[in-house]
Amino acid sequence: MKLEALSQALCLLPVFLPLASGAPTRRDGNSPMRGTASLAGYSPSENIATGLKPDIKYSLLPGQKENADIGTYLDFENVENPQPIRGSKGGDDPGPRNYYYDRINSDKLAPPGTDHGQTINAQWPLGLSRNRLGIDNAGWARQENTVVMPDATEMAGVDMRLEPAAYRELHWHLAAEWALVLNGSCRIQAVNEHGETFIDDVQAGDVWFFPAGIPHSIQALDDGVEFLLVFDQGDFDEDNTFLATEVFLHTPKSVLAKNLGTSISAFDKIPDDELFIFKGTPAPEDIEKQNVTTSAGIIPRTESYSYHFSEQPAHEVAGGSVKIIDPQTFPIASNFSAAVVTVHPGGMREIHWHTTSDEWTFFIRGQGRATLFTAPDDATTFDYRSGDIAYFPQSSSHYVENTGDEDLVFVEVLQAPQFTDVALGQWIASTPRQIVADTLNLSESTLSQLKTEKQYVVAGTTSD
Ligand SMILES: *[C@@H]1O[C@H](CO)[C@@H](O)[C@H](O)[C@H]1NC(C)=O
Ligand SMILES: *[C@@H]1O[C@H](CO)[C@@H](O)[C@H](O)[C@H]1NC(C)=O
Ligand SMILES: *[C@@H]1O[C@H](CO)[C@@H](O)[C@H](O)[C@H]1NC(C)=O
Ligand SMILES: *[C@@H]1O[C@H](CO)[C@@H](O)[C@H](O)[C@H]1NC(C)=O
Repeated sequence: MKLEALSQALCLLPVFLPLASGAPTRRDGNSPMRGTASLAGYSPSENIATGLKPDIKYSLLPGQKENADIGTYLDFENVENPQPIRGSKGGDDPGPRNYYYDRINSDKLAPPGTDHGQTINAQWPLGLSRNRLGIDNAGWARQENTVVMPDATEMAGVDMRLEPAAYRELHWHLAAEWALVLNGSCRIQAVNEHGETFIDDVQAGDVWFFPAGIPHSIQALDDGVEFLLVFDQGDFDEDNTFLATEVFLHTPKSVLAKNLGTSISAFDKIPDDELFIFKGTPAPEDIEKQNVTTSAGIIPRTESYSYHFSEQPAHEVAGGSVKIIDPQTFPIASNFSAAVVTVHPGGMREIHWHTTSDEWTFFIRGQGRATLFTAPDDATTFDYRSGDIAYFPQSSSHYVENTGDEDLVFVEVLQAPQFTDVALGQWIASTPRQIVADTLNLSESTLSQLKTEKQYVVAGTTSD
């Protein structure tokens, strides 16, 4: 395919040659960097080459021959020369272009005919975020925030890896932190403003939450850990947190000594820079050995910072399954409501919107696409893969269709005291038929097929 791209580029060369030959040449054969003023405007001497339309070889997928409004997913992954054509819309593309992007973003290259206008950008692949690498091969972290997704104002995210025994340094921040463990396991601990202590071990599928300002640490256990952090501030910056090392480095040593009742020399060997992500002494297997209990007591279970979400079985629905975690069962995270959704191949998270909150979504596994519709008439379809983030503003409708041949798994996170949505199907089915018929001109037989129950994930067949 690279060869093909090159040969197409060569095809175009003759078009540029007359321009190049119009520039004056110097005796040494090298041209000055600028041309002459006489090149501006009509030139009777220039012979514009025409009739050289490059012979672009391509074939169209069946979905590209349908009416564009049908908008079937186009799988360009193994298409050698995908073209921006849908039905009677579009035209071929001689280049320049990035074939890698075009193949995995078919809904951008050849959008459904129903896409219109310009919505916000609702996609950020973490693969485009610069990774911050920890010292001594201890791990890494990469983030999404309003710097890269300016309209994702209510939430930001970080994907972090800690190798076995590595720490995310003791720290706190202005934002509240909600986390979903993606792989492996780790020990988390914190002390709240009453001096009450918390410690727990969590594994893939579990959730934790640290309120704003509460100092905490994270240490990977034997198998290392990768986790997703979601913050309740879109402009959160992982590189701008309050670190234990920095508060010690930037307080006069005499003050530290007076405050903590030690000698000044006690602080001679503190690290001279932040640690962020670093290797530590492996945590003792027996968590009791690190269970600090004081007269203040431990943080009560009702206010626990962890939730063993991995042990909650999924609720099966027609096209997949759903697991919800919100303050009804995890009250400390009082404004974080989330659903982990699994969509089987061919299935789709149904068309819905959230009444009071934006939605921040992370794709954990598989691939899917979504159309963001915003008032009054803008719509964009995005193609997502694992490691991508999606963002759907409050009240803007969207669906997520599995476009691959394996399960699609993602987590929807809201800033809301309860996980709720309005489902388009349920709404239309539960509205008096005459009102719907008068408005949408749907037939009686179509109306009788609508379901009043919320579907969450509908089943379907794959397009190929
Ligand atoms: C990590 O978790 C992801 C998401 O569940 C999964 O696809 C991947 O295979 C896991 N990696 C390993 C090494 O287990
Ligand atoms: C820590 O100790 C307290 C008090 O004995 C106990 O209630 C709690 O379960 C312990 N926590 C862990 C993680 O072992
Ligand atoms: C929850 O989040 C929303 C959106 O950011 C915000 O408007 C609301 O004030 C928050 N509610 C609470 C109780 O913090
Ligand atoms: C409704 O649909 C019928 C065909 O089923 C068509 O004849 C009619 O013009 C449509 N009405 C409106 C208002 O679009």
